Amino acid sequence: MLRTHTCGALNETHLGTEVVLSGWVHKLRDKGFIIWVDLRDRYGITQLVFDEARTPKFVFEQAQKIGREFVIQIHGTVIERESKNPDLPTGAIEIFVKQLHLLNAAKTPPFTIETDSDGGEELRMEYRYLDIRRAPIRENLMFRHKVTMAIRNYLSKAGFIDVETPYLIKSTPEGARDFVVPSRMNEGQFYALPQSPQTFKQLLMVGGLDKYFQIVKCFRDEDLRADRQPEFTQIDCEMSFVTQEDVLQEFEGLVQHLLKEIKGIAPQAFPRMTYATAMERYGNDKPDIRFGMEFGTLNDLAKGKGFQVFDAVELVVGIAAPGLADYSRKQLDGLIDWVKRPQVGAKGLVWVKCNADGSFKSSVDKFFSAEDLSAWAAHLGAKAGDLLLVMAGDTTATRTQLSALRMHLGDILGLRDPNVFAPLWVTDFPLLEWDEESKRFHAMHHPFTAPKPEELPLLDSAPEKVHANAYDLVLNGNEIGGGSIRIHDAATQSKMFDLLGFSPEEAKAQFGFLMNAFQYGAPPHGGIAFGLDRLVALLGGKEIIRDFIAFPKNNNGRDVMIDAPAPIAPEQLDELALQLQSKT
Ligand code: AMO
Repeated sequence: MLRTHTCGALNETHLGTEVVLSGWVHKLRDKGFIIWVDLRDRYGITQLVFDEARTPKFVFEQAQKIGREFVIQIHGTVIERESKNPDLPTGAIEIFVKQLHLLNAAKTPPFTIETDSDGGEELRMEYRYLDIRRAPIRENLMFRHKVTMAIRNYLSKAGFIDVETPYLIKSTPEGARDFVVPSRMNEGQFYALPQSPQTFKQLLMVGGLDKYFQIVKCFRDEDLRADRQPEFTQIDCEMSFVTQEDVLQEFEGLVQHLLKEIKGIAPQAFPRMTYATAMERYGNDKPDIRFGMEFGTLNDLAKGKGFQVFDAVELVVGIAAPGLADYSRKQLDGLIDWVKRPQVGAKGLVWVKCNADGSFKSSVDKFFSAEDLSAWAAHLGAKAGDLLLVMAGDTTATRTQLSALRMHLGDILGLRDPNVFAPLWVTDFPLLEWDEESKRFHAMHHPFTAPKPEELPLLDSAPEKVHANAYDLVLNGNEIGGGSIRIHDAATQSKMFDLLGFSPEEAKAQFGFLMNAFQYGAPPHGGIAFGLDRLVALLGGKEIIRDFIAFPKNNNGRDVMIDAPAPIAPEQLDELALQLQSKT
């Protein structure tokens, strides 16, 4: 037996018990005549004591030779600790060691295996297996397991069946580039890894499975960020014979269940907002509604007063930052510099202080009277002591820039409390978006999304005006899920492909299987997919999904531990009938 207990199990009730423990040497304190060792495993830490006066000499000498992260097994007796540690479940006891077996020696780890490690991100990623020994990462992975099990149990109980779909497939467009896999047996041909199981889950509905779910890896070759990985996990779901309302209800139930199980939050109906409202009020289709600072359009109040910057543009829009009227010149300049950074890309920022005494001071006093500024303040719902921040330019870009500033101020003002959860359904997305570069429409969600039935006639005359039966679930300013009611008839689906610029031949070559299936009795259906990594991170109070993935990629899409991607041998290239071409 390598152990009778784990390192988190023993307490006062075990005093006098003979035990066997195994684990890693977490910490050593060698006082010369007495050695304390913290022994660690997944379950906790137990203190071992070796006493020169009482411990067998051979065992004491062994203890003098062990080092950090050695794997050892000990036999000993549970005794009372002299200086107790009330913060540890095992803090009242220690083990008087009688036998020590070295199970494996360890090199000195390249960083400390502590809650706050001295290792940089890249180094910890290279030795991820050591990083996983640290409590925060281990706890995150255990937390992910807890969330995943809660999801599986809930969906299974609700009648969803877990079906696996293939990874070696043909492109499923979700807006990113595909990762492709060359086929040895079919020279010159490639599989694509799924960006999502979208078409397969629809085919499962045609197959009559009615309610499907899968916790599934998806692959997208896109630029990476804190909330994006090239391979990530979806909770992918689909249902037959449902309306949008049915889908929203069903999955609101799932997320409410998680908030209750994991966070103890009593279920409350999730608010809903249309895409158009979200853009107007927050400049963003995934607004963080934990705090206000809603946008107010100032076109009517700010144009035509001789200030060129405002007069020449499409949109003048502002927010009121609570309590910031006492910002110094330096702090205001700091905000201006912040919005001018390339990541935000604004040309400038107008500020107005709503002073406590009712007066106004602004960066545009030359052009606007106190009455003007007072009207702005009233329109933006500002109180005395608030700071108005105003931006101007093209509608879309200006909204995005002001949205970035709003989030930044939310952080500065401590309004983005990770322990507060504010879910929001965003609905009524446009079906299509125009892409200037390719001079084409793109599907805003994906090409299988159904237009609102009442707007179907517009598909021919004004496709840009058509809305989709599509919805996102937003949590604290993050898109954690998205879905739609699907097109389920071949005629509408081919019209959609046509609008997206596919020739009938291209549509047939890429999606013929789906159009075919639609000719054999496809039920009305719809669904959603949640980003599991994002959901878990947010429930865990964080926004960086890497910390909740056992073996994540870095921002260049590399796994620095196994050093992938990597070149392959010329013979392997030959076998795949591939040749590398230089970029000259
Ligand atoms: P969508 O593309 O919106 O929908 O993806 C669903 C959810 O997956 C998460 N997500 C990601 N998480 C981490 N890294 C990424 N690179 C990444 N990309 C997306 C987001 C997102 O909301 N087939 C449709 C779903 C459907 O229509 O049912 C789909 O994939 O949280």
